[in-house]
Amino acid sequence: MSATAAVDLPRGPAKFRTLWRLFRGERTDPEPFYRLLAAYAVEDLDAHHGPLAGQTIADLGCGPGYYTYAFRDRGAHVIPIDNSTDELELGGAPPEGYVLGDAGDLPLPDGSVDGIFCSNMLEHTPSAAPILDEIDRVLKPGGWAYVSWTNWYSPWGGHLMAPYHYLGPKLGPKLYEKRHGKPEKHAYGETLWACHIGATLRLVRSHPTFEITSVEPRYWPWAKFIMKVPGLRELIAWNCVIRIRKRH
Ligand SMILES: C[S@@+](CC[C@H](N)C(=O)[O-])C[C@H]1O[C@@H](n2cnc3c(N)ncnc32)[C@H](O)[C@@H]1O
Repeated sequence: MSATAAVDLPRGPAKFRTLWRLFRGERTDPEPFYRLLAAYAVEDLDAHHGPLAGQTIADLGCGPGYYTYAFRDRGAHVIPIDNSTDELELGGAPPEGYVLGDAGDLPLPDGSVDGIFCSNMLEHTPSAAPILDEIDRVLKPGGWAYVSWTNWYSPWGGHLMAPYHYLGPKLGPKLYEKRHGKPEKHAYGETLWACHIGATLRLVRSHPTFEITSVEPRYWPWAKFIMKVPGLRELIAWNCVIRIRKRH
């Protein structure tokens, strides 16, 4: 995969329509969906923490590197990190300068990065705790982190076995596999786990050095008030974003 080409960003209702259309084709043609998401995310992060040019950013669970390329287009120095060679090579060659490693045991020095981007990785790890510990360790004081994932009770929480996941992480996968066999990707307990908003917020808050600057539903941030309602947020956020600032 080459560097991100200039992407024309739809606005207003057209943004939602375009993302939905591309998401529906994501299984067969993932690149347009992820490139567009990456362009929005990087634009948003430049507005919140920019200029990104010159910043050192770790892209945790980078996969084939859509976000890494979008950050680099803004002049950031990016360290793409993933623990799977298959995922790194999904788009062809892995992103330049990639590090094969575990986000829960980062091969990075303490206080060495300005920003951490961690998109759609938490639900693919058995526990968010070591990831958050490592984010805390490697961020510089004053640094930022963007942590976003598909929470379990989101309509897409079970990934290919949705909507069986609504039966819970024990019964849901068991019943799905009995009726349909193992999902093609992300079998529960192998590369997919139940990651909830409330529990993850409690983990983040257990770090005295972290300030939560915002909790939002990723695709409808204007409805961020729903994130204050336990239970409801688990059902309708779809994808939760926690923005963190490391205190000085
Ligand atoms: C669904 S993909 C997300 C890719 C990209 N960040 C995005 O948002 O499109 C999840 C990625 O996280 C990686 N991953 C899962 N657990 C990890 C861990 N403990 N350390 C590093 N990478 C991990 C997987 O290999 C995979 O590439």
